[in-house]
Amino acid sequence: MIVLRTVAELRVAVRAARSRGERIGLAPTMGAFHDGHLALMRRAKDECGFAIVSLFVNPAQFSEAADLARYPRDEGRDTVLATATGVDALFAPPDSEVYPRGFTTTVDVGALALPLEGVVRGPEHFRGVATVVTKLLSMAQPDVAFFGQKDAQQTLIIRRLVRDLDLPVRVETCPTVREPDGLAMSSRNALLDAESRRRAPTLWRALSAVRRVVDGGETNPSRALDAGHAILATERIVPEYFAAVSAETLAPLGVLEGEVLIAIAARFGAVRLIDNVLVDARSART
Ligand code: PAJ
Repeated sequence: MIVLRTVAELRVAVRAARSRGERIGLAPTMGAFHDGHLALMRRAKDECGFAIVSLFVNPAQFSEAADLARYPRDEGRDTVLATATGVDALFAPPDSEVYPRGFTTTVDVGALALPLEGVVRGPEHFRGVATVVTKLLSMAQPDVAFFGQKDAQQTLIIRRLVRDLDLPVRVETCPTVREPDGLAMSSRNALLDAESRRRAPTLWRALSAVRRVVDGGETNPSRALDAGHAILATERIVPEYFAAVSAETLAPLGVLEGEVLIAIAARFGAVRLIDNVLVDARSART
């Protein structure tokens, strides 16, 4: 696996791969790799002759300086793990390569950035994500880019910007990889203390409870969510949000119909965790 630091180096490697007739795959990440990231990389390598993982802790998407400061970083460990997946290149640019002096352009995706994470993290969060992902896609010019269902709103936003800006890339969504107890893998899990780590899988148990009642035919969103709230209450978890929204527009639903995203966020001390599940709600009955 080669390690690339500059856009110029990346372009040389991509051009060489293309001249060998290989497809280019990109899995953008902020490092601190876990099995969720590694699944994205393996999928990129399975589907593309030349697979790139990018590692860039993007300051523009952090609303709190403290959150950015404590974000786990270990490039040495990440390099070893990425190599083992078989990816061909690790693109790990310094901040100055991504945001050179005088940088001012941003990508604003509008309404999709406002609900859920947008409410808690502010509009600058998804502006930061959309801007850096647009840049990474432009830098690497992959045929396919891989994102996780774990960050459902982010993946939806990326699909939207790719369509809206006519970027010539196919976006693939990979399923959420979980710990054996159901906790969605996240770089932030490492920051949980023992008691929070014990309580954290409650989020997935609550999502699963909502999924069960919707699968059972419940079409009333608040009754469906109540099944999850009952589980959260057993561990005294008060979520930042717990919502049933359209999986396509993220709009709140009066009646559960079609593809529904059940999304949750909760704080465990200083650590914020998010998770979600997609459910296929039957058409509303009378
Ligand atoms: P990061 O949090 O490092 O996540 C990188 C990718 O891994 C994202 O597409 C995310 O959805 C996916 N991912 C994280 N946890 C996962 C899990 N448990 N199962 C499956 N996939 C998982 O998301 C970002 O970085 C950044 O916002 C980024 C897109 C790189 C832009 O800076």
